[in-house]
Amino acid sequence: MNDSALLNNFVNEYKNRIELTIEKEVLKDVSQSDLSESMLYSLKAGGKRLRPLLTLAVLKTFNHKIGEDELKVSSALELLHTYSLIHDDLPAMDNDDLRRGKATNHVVYGEGLATLAGDALLTLAFQWLTDNNLTDAKKVQLVLELSKKAGPAGMVAGQAIDILNENKPLTLDQIKHLHEQKTGDLIRYALIAGGIMSDCESEVIHLLDDFGADYGLAFQIYDDILDVTSNTEDLGKPVHQDSVKNTYTNQLGLDKSYEYLEDTLDHSKMILKKISDLNGIDVSLLMSFLDYFNIEK
Ligand code: IPE
Ligand code: IPE
Ligand code: MG
Ligand code: MG
Ligand code: MG
Repeated sequence: MNDSALLNNFVNEYKNRIELTIEKEVLKDVSQSDLSESMLYSLKAGGKRLRPLLTLAVLKTFNHKIGEDELKVSSALELLHTYSLIHDDLPAMDNDDLRRGKATNHVVYGEGLATLAGDALLTLAFQWLTDNNLTDAKKVQLVLELSKKAGPAGMVAGQAIDILNENKPLTLDQIKHLHEQKTGDLIRYALIAGGIMSDCESEVIHLLDDFGADYGLAFQIYDDILDVTSNTEDLGKPVHQDSVKNTYTNQLGLDKSYEYLEDTLDHSKMILKKISDLNGIDVSLLMSFLDYFNIEK
């Protein structure tokens, strides 16, 4: 099977299961109806579900079972990611009015409820990491890793650097650090969570983490490129919004941003090869996730 068929089959099999898990569990856990409506509005608006799919791809790679508990834990990251998008779009941050092809949460529900829907998604994510039948040791590891990657040592710090430096050009190294925290860290967590649930040894978890770091950095470089090259219809969010932002494209121009993206993806392939050499396992499913990046100019 070629890489894109492998990825398509995997996405076809699991995206729907992630979405069903999210809807069922949110309805079970949220009794305040305005809150559940605004949370589900953003959760159900669409989205690639990349982060939970990456976690499940690690489980599949290590032949670990994918049952209800694994689906719930993997979907917790989609809750957290969706909170980050709702808050990112608020007038106080990027002030965007379209997300996943629909009006942003605050446009429909108002800034107060949108802020609270984000708060609720963030908190519920941690509830889902612990309200399941995994071992206590795994739950604690998952909570610690997500706290580090999503909070002030990770994504939130990246978002802070981003909004505080609009119209203030950062150096290339600073931009790389910003991208690593803002977007890379949640993607690192997606890979690490798969490693924890699959009982991987710490050496393998470190390599999964390294792969996540490359993938996440590449993902934000590509998001910056798409802001320049794509359109609202394909992306489901406004384009040409980043003129005051510290993006790779603003710093380096488009051609050099593509080059940097390709270098980062080459590095990520090398890491996957190391995982394969170490364990003799087939990493082609994880490799197929690199198909997301369409780098034909
Ligand atoms: C958007 O993430 C925010 C960034 C980190 C660039 P995605 O591109 O994964 O958004 P959805 O989940 O598919 O809407
Ligand atoms: C946001 O980055 C990443 C988050 C942590 C939410 P962007 O501001 O570039 O994301 P988009 O382009 O609005 O999706
Ligand atoms: Mg932003
Ligand atoms: Mg934004
Ligand atoms: Mg963007």
